[in-house]
Amino acid sequence: MKSEILRLLKESDTYISGQQLCDHFHVSRTAVWKVIEQLKKEGYEIEAVRNKGYRLTCSPDVMSKAEIESLLATQWVGKKVVYSAEIDSTNTQAKAAGEQGEAHGTLFVADKQNAGKGRRGRVWESPAGSSIYMTVLLRPDLPPVKAPMLTLVMAVSVAEGIRQVTGLDTQIKWPNDIVLNKKKICGILTEMSTEIDYINYVVIGDGINVNQDTFPEELSETATSLKIESGQIYRRSELIASIMKQFEKNYEIFLETEDLSGIQDIYNEMLVNRGREVRVLEPGNEYKAFAEGINKTGELIVRTEAGEEKHIFAGEVSVRGIYGYV
Ligand code: BTN
Repeated sequence: MKSEILRLLKESDTYISGQQLCDHFHVSRTAVWKVIEQLKKEGYEIEAVRNKGYRLTCSPDVMSKAEIESLLATQWVGKKVVYSAEIDSTNTQAKAAGEQGEAHGTLFVADKQNAGKGRRGRVWESPAGSSIYMTVLLRPDLPPVKAPMLTLVMAVSVAEGIRQVTGLDTQIKWPNDIVLNKKKICGILTEMSTEIDYINYVVIGDGINVNQDTFPEELSETATSLKIESGQIYRRSELIASIMKQFEKNYEIFLETEDLSGIQDIYNEMLVNRGREVRVLEPGNEYKAFAEGINKTGELIVRTEAGEEKHIFAGEVSVRGIYGYV
């Protein structure tokens, strides 16, 4: 009921009477009043005027299950939201839930992670109050070899979602970092549990730098936030809802062909490496090449200095810009 009351308050530009809410939810006035009080405690500013009712005057960057649910406009992604003020890692949490039979599309969100995980075993610093840490659990009916493409589906969705809410044109550093002004604002970590020919579940976790003012010294060269780049504060729940809406759409496009052909053009338009010289770091082999874009399976097509076309698979190599992070 809390999420629904919040949604109604947000959708209305005028007062909603207490009686209207009681009738809508078949509850007492006291029950409605209690929910309004809870919302106020969470940071919403709600005006209550006698004989008129309630009106939402300000909804700051509140992160809660109710706030996220009130904004989500999806069919199945985030049908269930599991919100934690603090958790070890939303990926770890989603995997444990995956083992327990949790449903396809369940979304895990936290305000803070105390054991946030990055790719290649790295730590993902996850303080409270300014970032998005979220993981979606999926049970796709796909051969396991196709699952890594889902990370690229998420990368496009994050960039699109950010653009919709903020108007900022972020780019993708192949395969799945989101960058703004050549610095990283989002990392994506995909993990899965499979049999030889069957996926039990996939979890895709996004760490998005939204309202941070600063970064630790060792990250400040390569990391940034939406706030640092634009000077504005954004509502994290709004970004989550927008990204998940895009993800649901792109996932369905992906499933039609089980490859990236339906989103390949958008991905390539957003690809920061496109047309740039990159350094390809293969185990035991390093060379310079020009990046041309991804193919429909998500491999990076590069042309070596000798003119040879090569297709780079994300699991095998990493790509660095010649002059720094991108
Ligand atoms: C990277 O190294 O670029 C990937 C970082 C992924 C971080 C996110 S935050 C939400 C989810 N939970 C985790 O522990 N990691 C991912």
